[in-house]
Amino acid sequence: MTLSSASSVRLRPATLDDAPVLAEWDREPHVIACSSDDPDAETAFGGIDWPEELAESSPVSFYQIAEIDGRPIGVMQIIDPHLEPTRYWGEIEPNLRAMDIWIGPRDALNRGYGTQMMTRAIDAAFADPRVTAIVIDPLNSNTAAHRFYRRLGFAPVGRRMFDQDDCLVHRLERATWEGRTRT
Ligand SMILES: CC(C)(COP(=O)(O)OP(=O)(O)OC[C@H]1O[C@@H](n2cnc3c(N)ncnc32)[C@H](O)[C@@H]1OP(=O)(O)O)[C@@H](O)C(=O)NCCC(=O)NCCS
Repeated sequence: MTLSSASSVRLRPATLDDAPVLAEWDREPHVIACSSDDPDAETAFGGIDWPEELAESSPVSFYQIAEIDGRPIGVMQIIDPHLEPTRYWGEIEPNLRAMDIWIGPRDALNRGYGTQMMTRAIDAAFADPRVTAIVIDPLNSNTAAHRFYRRLGFAPVGRRMFDQDDCLVHRLERATWEGRTRT
């Protein structure tokens, strides 16, 4: 199937049926590279158990699948970092959202789909009037992702280790998002 860059992305909640495709994407080199600086890593996210991960979804930590014409092409994780049970972000203020995003099939990269996914997810997050900002933790080495996030209005706020991962935290304030020029 040919992917058109003009196609519109649909975001829907991930289900257990999405576990195989998520596991397949974990073996894509560009997904491995965004999850770890380990040059020997053979799968992304340290061999995550997707059925288990998806089964633990809740209103404070959930996944959304992006589809183009019914074909899954990407995924987002959206959490409330103050409330989600693993406390991945440690001590952090309430009323934020944290996001993660990756495109799975290589042929779906650089077609504007990631921008559409982030735009929909950010709009949905700020639809809750309590949400003040969105945080994101790309690897410090992932300069392509930094450029992508900055174009959306995120600003770097500082380098931080999450376990073994050397990250550059970025933050998008509600006022920045609401004040931007929509194209
Ligand atoms: C980061 C990521 C999600 C961005 O998604 P994407 O769909 O590739 O991003 P977009 O296509 O919206 O934008 C990327 C580039 O394509 C260009 N682009 C945007 N719309 C486009 C379109 N319709 N047609 C062609 N190119 C387009 C953008 O200008 C941008 O160029 P840049 O190199 O100057 O940044 C994706 O590259 C990815 O999954 N990377 C691997 C995982 C990763 O790094 N995730 C982030 C972890 S923190």
